[in-house]
Amino acid sequence: MKQSIFTIESNTPLTKDVMKMVLEGDTSAITASGQFVNIALEGKFLRRPISVCDYDNSTLTIIYKVVGKGTAQMKEMAAGQQLDILTGLGNGYDLSCAGDSPVLLGGGVGVPPMYHLAKKLVAMGKSVSVILGFNTASEIFYEEEFKALGCSVTVTTVDGSYGVKGFVTDALPERYSHFYTCGPEPMLKAVYRATVTSGQMSFEERMGCGFGACMGCSCKTLTGYKRICKDGPVMRKEEIAWNA
Ligand SMILES: Cc1cc2nc3c(=O)[nH]c(=O)nc-3n(C[C@H](O)[C@H](O)[C@H](O)COP(=O)(O)OP(=O)(O)OC[C@H]3O[C@@H](n4cnc5c(N)ncnc54)[C@H](O)[C@@H]3O)c2cc1C
Ligand code: FES
Repeated sequence: MKQSIFTIESNTPLTKDVMKMVLEGDTSAITASGQFVNIALEGKFLRRPISVCDYDNSTLTIIYKVVGKGTAQMKEMAAGQQLDILTGLGNGYDLSCAGDSPVLLGGGVGVPPMYHLAKKLVAMGKSVSVILGFNTASEIFYEEEFKALGCSVTVTTVDGSYGVKGFVTDALPERYSHFYTCGPEPMLKAVYRATVTSGQMSFEERMGCGFGACMGCSCKTLTGYKRICKDGPVMRKEEIAWNA
């Protein structure tokens, strides 16, 4: 984990309430797709956890939905302003079990962590299928970005206004070697039930400290109690105990 100051390069809307922020700073503590950062905001006691969408040696990209006071504050920030950010948090996805044809399922703001993961898997020569789930056409973002990586992309919308009508699970390919997913808990439960291979799921729980100290995110798994922030947010399908 590393605490450093990042400078905002851009902060632009992708949809009505989803923003993309690109920041410049020290990304050396980020080591895996699916990790998250924790952002300090002026006047707010708790930092706000946001998944890493993409990063390179000096740039960090995050995508966030404006849902409350903290994210509304972030929306008002402009290029040149600075943020105090903890980086290198969480375990991230394990790419070694991807097999030859992994499928990635992202729902809403669960889509961002799928982007860097897809980039890495494509670079490893995998045949990557991506399913992006949204409620309606106006909420869709990053379809073209995933296509540009060379992934096979399917978009689902609950109301059928674009792509396949239904949920991400309605678009699962016939064959896939492993699955990776991130999204709201009802979606994760549906993916858990619908998938026939092993896989990894990222949980976006409410958090306190974000680095393993407060136990505020502790949850029961089949292999004992785990802290979502430190032992997760990525859990293996085989260790998840729902409603525990
Ligand atoms: C590991 C992790 C990764 C995350 N990645 C992303 C991401 O990439 N993009 C993104 O938009 N959001 C992400 N989130 C959720 C994000 O942290 C919250 O939406 C944010 O902290 C809300 O801050 P706020 O001050 O705007 O809202 P608050 O005022 O704190 O809350 C406003 C509303 O949002 C709800 N809310 C707050 N936190 C969460 C949460 N964790 N999950 C569901 N609902 C919540 C509250 O119940 C409340 O209804 C992630 C969360 C975690 C734990
Ligand atoms: S949020 Fe403090 S231990 Fe996870």
